[in-house]
Amino acid sequence: MDPALLTILRCPGCKASGLSDLRAPHCPACGVTIGLSGGVLDVIQASAEPTASSAEQRLMQSQLVARLYDRTWRPAFVRLFAGKGASAELGGVGGEMFIHKHSLAIEEREGPWLDLSCGPGAFTRAIGAAAPGALVVGLDISHAMLEVAATRTRAYSNVALVRGDAHALPFVDGSIGGVNNAGALHVYDDPEQVFREIWRVLRPGGIYVGSTFAEAPSIVGKVVARAAGIRRFAPSELRSWLQRLGFADYEDLRVGGAIIFRARRP
Ligand SMILES: C[S@@+](CC[C@H](N)C(=O)[O-])C[C@H]1O[C@@H](n2cnc3c(N)ncnc32)[C@H](O)[C@@H]1O
Repeated sequence: MDPALLTILRCPGCKASGLSDLRAPHCPACGVTIGLSGGVLDVIQASAEPTASSAEQRLMQSQLVARLYDRTWRPAFVRLFAGKGASAELGGVGGEMFIHKHSLAIEEREGPWLDLSCGPGAFTRAIGAAAPGALVVGLDISHAMLEVAATRTRAYSNVALVRGDAHALPFVDGSIGGVNNAGALHVYDDPEQVFREIWRVLRPGGIYVGSTFAEAPSIVGKVVARAAGIRRFAPSELRSWLQRLGFADYEDLRVGGAIIFRARRP
């Protein structure tokens, strides 16, 4: 794992910066130890383990869903919530990745990069390959997703994986150059808290690129979304939310029911 990770992590207990020793990570200030298993650093303390509050969140913990995610789950989801035409127009996950990488402007910026709610790591690996000289951190709350991501990113020495909660990011203020947040806003309990955390960890000038769903175009989509606890966003809602928190230069792209947006911390 890239040792640069230690310089941007903060203690999940006392919030002090600078954890030490990648083989047995711990906080020198308060002594909290951090789990490390299968190449994934786990900053969620046993006493603060969050419980999944929706069906969608529970499904994301399943090993079967994690394994099938890219080939089956994700395309079906995009089709259901963004519409048949949109999934073709986006060009599958490859097309989405192209849009995200272009919006992040990886070649023009410095890392470190955070792939927030990285799932099984397809975007993490793509960012890792596009920014070979920078630290790329994939963070997710699901053990199962991170297990797949670890296999997939093994060849990239600049990629590190962390198990953590998007509502309480384990990074030092202003330590991240860009945040990629594909397809996850709609599953968070409190998206505004996640936006606040993204703002806090981005350095001034840092970029935030996310994607999510607007109101589902089909009746089936609407029913499934309600049953699974999947939230949808109006683009105007995202814009005003992010602007209120201080983000600048909000732009978005609508493809059917999918929204890909970008904003910058001034
Ligand atoms: C729909 S998947 C998106 C995965 C990937 N970004 C992609 O676009 O292929 C949503 C991911 O959000 C993660 N997630 C849900 N709640 C989270 C939280 N509170 N903190 C971090 N990740 C979370 C899930 O475990 C899941 O991997």
